[in-house]
Amino acid sequence: MRTPIIAGNWKMHKTVNEALDYFASFKGAAKEGVEIVLCVPFPALYPLAKEAKGTGIGIGAQNMHFEEAGAFTGEVSPGMLTSLGVEYVILGHSERRTLFGETDEAVNQKVQAAVKHGLTPIICVGETLEEREEDRTREIVRDQVVKAISGFRSEEVKKMVLAYEPVWAIGSGKASTAEDAQEVIQFIRNVVADQYDQQVANEIRIQYGGSVKPNNIDSFLAQPDIDGALVGGASLDPESFGQLVAAAA
Ligand code: G3H
Repeated sequence: MRTPIIAGNWKMHKTVNEALDYFASFKGAAKEGVEIVLCVPFPALYPLAKEAKGTGIGIGAQNMHFEEAGAFTGEVSPGMLTSLGVEYVILGHSERRTLFGETDEAVNQKVQAAVKHGLTPIICVGETLEEREEDRTREIVRDQVVKAISGFRSEEVKKMVLAYEPVWAIGSGKASTAEDAQEVIQFIRNVVADQYDQQVANEIRIQYGGSVKPNNIDSFLAQPDIDGALVGGASLDPESFGQLVAAAA
């Protein structure tokens, strides 16, 4: 019922030429029944959005400002992204939250701006190792989800994508077990049902992210509530990301 969505997050990797070389190898990876997205650094957005037309691969940004325009040196607005042909934007990634001080309130403002501009937000939530060890995973994740998705119409929430990324699993090579990820993602779905209704909870897609590789993607997608993956390191090589996408199809 829910179409799986596999998104690559390149983070701060690849020049424009490297991005174009990558895309030349990767563009055949599109598969029926799986939504594929590449979230790339700002300079690569326009060239890749042009190349991606008609390939079935969507292009996303990794952040944006919530204002339309103004004196915000170094920032990029939602309208600037859509003008390039960008369709998705990652919001609230833990690296943005911890390294750049992004708050839950700012994430909510960004989600509002994304929805207003017709961008699909991929909203990241997840607990740190310390929070997990203190048995606070549910409390932390619930709080992040509730704040990020508050103030919308049900129709808008259904089209959003949530990504559960336990911070300790990101870039560590230590993925969550598929069963643990399923448990938290089912919990997130229940939070969405509490905030909106069961139909919204049934339709919203929730990804797992954190050390997803071609050899473990199957185990995550086999879980009833996991609708895809947000992939960092394993999305940087077109062959390995192609294998991962093929495993998901
Ligand atoms: O956005 C992607 C995540 O931070 C996961 O990164 O696959 O390198 O662990 P990773």
